[in-house]
Amino acid sequence: MFVKLLTIFFFFSFTLLSQLPKSSTQTLDFTYNGFLPPLTDISLEGIATVTPNGLLKLTNYTMQKTGHAFHTKPVRFKDSPDGTVSSFSTTFVFAIHSEIPSLSGYGMAFVVAPNPRLRYATASQYMGLLNITNDGNVTNHVFAIEFDTIQSPKFNDTDDNHVGIDINSLTSVESSPAGYWDGKGQFKNLTLISRKRMQVWVDYDDRTHQIDVTMAPFSKDKPKKPLVSIVRDLSSVLQQDMFVGFSSATGTIVSEYYILGWSFRVKGNAPQLDLSKLPKLPRWEPKRIYSIYKTWMPSVCIFLVPFLFISTLTILVRYVVRRRRKFKEELEDWETRLGKNRMKFKDLYCATKGFNENDLLGSGGFGAVYRGVMPRTEKEIAVKRVSNKSQQGLKEFVSEVVSIGRMGHRNLVPLLGYCRWRDELLLVYEYMPNGSLDKYLHNSPPEVTLDWKQRIKVIKGVASALFYLHEEWEQVVIHRDIKASNVLLDSEHNGRLGDFGLARLSGHGSDPQTTLVAGTWGYLAPDHVRTGRATTATDIFAFGVLLLEVACGRRPIEIQNENGERVFILDWVLGFWSEGNILDAKDPKLGTEYDRTEVEMVLKLGLMCTHSSPHDRPTMRQVLHYLMGGDAILPDLSPLDLGGNEMLEIHHELSETGMFTCGSSMVNSIVSASSGR
Ligand SMILES: *[C@@H]1O[C@H](CO)[C@@H](O)[C@H](O)[C@H]1NC(C)=O
Ligand SMILES: *[C@@H]1O[C@H](CO)[C@@H](O)[C@H](O)[C@H]1NC(C)=O
Ligand SMILES: *[C@@H]1O[C@H](CO)[C@@H](O)[C@H](O)[C@H]1NC(C)=O
Ligand SMILES: *[C@@H]1O[C@H](CO)[C@@H](O)[C@H](O)[C@H]1NC(C)=O
Ligand SMILES: *[C@@H]1O[C@H](CO)[C@@H](O)[C@H](O)[C@H]1NC(C)=O
Repeated sequence: MFVKLLTIFFFFSFTLLSQLPKSSTQTLDFTYNGFLPPLTDISLEGIATVTPNGLLKLTNYTMQKTGHAFHTKPVRFKDSPDGTVSSFSTTFVFAIHSEIPSLSGYGMAFVVAPNPRLRYATASQYMGLLNITNDGNVTNHVFAIEFDTIQSPKFNDTDDNHVGIDINSLTSVESSPAGYWDGKGQFKNLTLISRKRMQVWVDYDDRTHQIDVTMAPFSKDKPKKPLVSIVRDLSSVLQQDMFVGFSSATGTIVSEYYILGWSFRVKGNAPQLDLSKLPKLPRWEPKRIYSIYKTWMPSVCIFLVPFLFISTLTILVRYVVRRRRKFKEELEDWETRLGKNRMKFKDLYCATKGFNENDLLGSGGFGAVYRGVMPRTEKEIAVKRVSNKSQQGLKEFVSEVVSIGRMGHRNLVPLLGYCRWRDELLLVYEYMPNGSLDKYLHNSPPEVTLDWKQRIKVIKGVASALFYLHEEWEQVVIHRDIKASNVLLDSEHNGRLGDFGLARLSGHGSDPQTTLVAGTWGYLAPDHVRTGRATTATDIFAFGVLLLEVACGRRPIEIQNENGERVFILDWVLGFWSEGNILDAKDPKLGTEYDRTEVEMVLKLGLMCTHSSPHDRPTMRQVLHYLMGGDAILPDLSPLDLGGNEMLEIHHELSETGMFTCGSSMVNSIVSASSGR
């Protein structure tokens, strides 16, 4: 009984509704030249609003939100018994403004939908039209024209600036990059997010079933040729009564979507918009800056100016204090005696441009050497930074080095001064333009090598410098690190000995069980390794190795390629001598231009100097006599006299304990006292 009553009720209400005059419930057309209140026929959902001047603003800068604006009255799309969809036409003017000028939220769409709420539609790429579950479902009955500003591969978007016709899905049925065909038949691009106003026309023809979407820049006439056009019967898509409106969505990037004016009509062309009456878009950039300037500047100035002043002052004071502290020099009593040899750290810092890596000349066990130019005199210098944690013996060392530097010897690298700064000792030498000897000896393939005349000149120079240190100077000075890389060549290719005595600075072992052997492997005398003591004889041993190195063009220790065996230069030359042809040990790079007796003498002298017993080595005075020729003739020796293989044994021993480092680069090594005999 109840069911029957209900059926009757429904039947009546249905017939009643269908009898009502169309004009009161259904829309035939409407025109909005702006959306000024009272806005009775527009419903807003989500973050859509209307601005005071009448702009329909679909979204604002809120992330992941949708905004909908629908005409509240349904539109009757089907009113003929056969269910065909009537022709309809709409036009609107829109503009998109992005927070970030080149990026945009997801876009907006003109929508025809079964209800004006689209409650389940989601933001981002679904543009407030659909959601992940219902996208593409024919039961949606959603028809839309999308203005898409993000390329979503999911929906096969062609680019991030396109216009598409969507039916029940965000994958467009047809789409095109935004633009228009001008009168001459040329396609002109339009950028949707350009903030510029654009007008759009959407037309559906009930006989041809043609859907045309046309767009043009604001105030341009409707182009003849549509932008996107398809033939599609919408009778299965649209229902009898539908709602028309706009939808838009933001993602993580946000934009404002504005509709400035809108008109719509079924069965006929949409009424013309009166473009002059449309509301103005906000003045974006200039206004913002202007308003910030106007409202904030005065107060900003009041607070900022004293703040800036104080902070600048603080920074300045801190800079000065820090700079002073940075370059602070401590002068000890003993240094006053050295007077003008003490240099200012600040000057050296400036000269080397703050110890710039680009000006690094080399680095070794005792520190790095930088090239520099003295600020006032423009003199080129080489600054050696010796890190010296112990401070032990520094006084003696500095005094000695400075005094020798002051006395001068033409085969010593001139020391211009020194500087103590924190834990560092900086020694300032004259810059030697031709670099160190080892580069000339071991650059293979030889770029520049030295001929024999040059080599003997270098050897003689070094010998006289070493003689000066050992015997001529008021006290005996032991160099401790004679080697090819410590021999520098001045502009006339004179050999000059550098770095004297440096090894001593690190020569003070604190642990009585260990002795710090400072020097370079290959140049170290066996007695030095054994006792840990450097003597003039250990210097002479190193000088002997240097003699052999210069004559043979070989490094003190070379690794034989076949079996990785280390060959000590001493044994190598001795080998040739034992076979009776010592001259074969000479450097092949010397060619034929050399003095046989001199080369032979240098080789033999080298072997004499490297005698395993320190007492059997000649003194520097004798060495100099032999080198200078004259009346001193090398004693007639045989290889057997020099055959002590002690050094080799020591090297083997050390290589087993892993302390052996090959090559001629400077190495400091701690040798346990027990490993000596
Ligand atoms: C965006 O609009 C909504 C609804 O009008 C409002 O609640 C929100 O504060 C607005 N957000 C911004 C960032 O303007
Ligand atoms: C998508 O929308 C439909 C209604 O059209 C709703 O039933 C469904 O729950 C929604 N799905 C999601 C994931 O929101
Ligand atoms: C389409 O939606 C209807 C109603 O929401 C649902 O019953 C149907 O399963 C959906 N079809 C597909 C293919 O998802
Ligand atoms: C996107 O295009 C590819 C290739 O053209 C096609 O296989 C795929 O089905 C399309 N996706 C959708 C959602 O239409
Ligand atoms: C128009 O846009 C397309 C695709 O974005 C581009 O290839 C073309 O160069 C543009 N034409 C002009 C005139 O800017």
